[in-house]
Amino acid sequence: MWNDFLTNQDLPINKWTHYFPLYEDALKKYQNRTCTILEIGCDKGGSMHLWKRYLGPYAQIVGLDINPECKTAEEEQIHIHIGSQSDPSTLKELIEKFAPFDVIIDDGSHLMADVETSFRHLFEHVTADGCYIIEDLHTAYWPEYGGGLGGKNSFIEFTKQAIDAIHFSYIREDHAWDPFLLEIANHTRAIRIADSMIIYEKGRAIRKHAPMRGRLSPDSNQLGELTFNSHAIS
Ligand SMILES: C[S@@+](CC[C@H](N)C(=O)[O-])C[C@H]1O[C@@H](n2cnc3c(N)ncnc32)[C@H](O)[C@@H]1O
Repeated sequence: MWNDFLTNQDLPINKWTHYFPLYEDALKKYQNRTCTILEIGCDKGGSMHLWKRYLGPYAQIVGLDINPECKTAEEEQIHIHIGSQSDPSTLKELIEKFAPFDVIIDDGSHLMADVETSFRHLFEHVTADGCYIIEDLHTAYWPEYGGGLGGKNSFIEFTKQAIDAIHFSYIREDHAWDPFLLEIANHTRAIRIADSMIIYEKGRAIRKHAPMRGRLSPDSNQLGELTFNSHAIS
């Protein structure tokens, strides 16, 4: 992917260099597989074309952009839907037409309200082992994007709550959980945090347990029981 970016002579791509290893980690399992990738924010279309070259002939790349001029980047395997990432009816149309998505990449307005609206509408339409990537989250620290350190609308702060929600069953204090945070907790295997990028990696909800296995003492053949300390969310 990095080499493709460096040698690109096709449509221009504008990405921070440290994103490439993260993108490659997220996308490599879909190479030469049937998959649907949604990218919010197409601009000149260069990144969508890069995903197509990287993923191969079975990938369907869907773009969403507010600017109708982005349509010019459409070609085989690449569909561009025009509308705003903050508009529920646009998101509904997109879902009806293309969901489920294996990977969603949000490189749109980077406004906190838009990032969260899209995430709330689209998260459940990511496949059970897919992922949702939000890039350029340094804007979560900038007031002109609705952010600010510790700001109540910051998507970084939202993600801190999602980290708490993943630990829901261990938390002893009473807490009025946002149901969406519990949905995230039930369907997220891991959250990766990098400089300006967050990746929600989905995974089937499993019963959490920490069994003791192996011989109980050096001079005994007695094995530990397979006990379950369930921490599943009901
Ligand atoms: C940073 S550019 C995308 C760059 C592209 N992904 C790439 O890597 O080459 C951001 C894009 O988001 C689009 N955009 C801005 N606000 C939007 C919104 N509310 N909904 C959808 N797209 C939006 C802009 O028109 C612009 O094309």
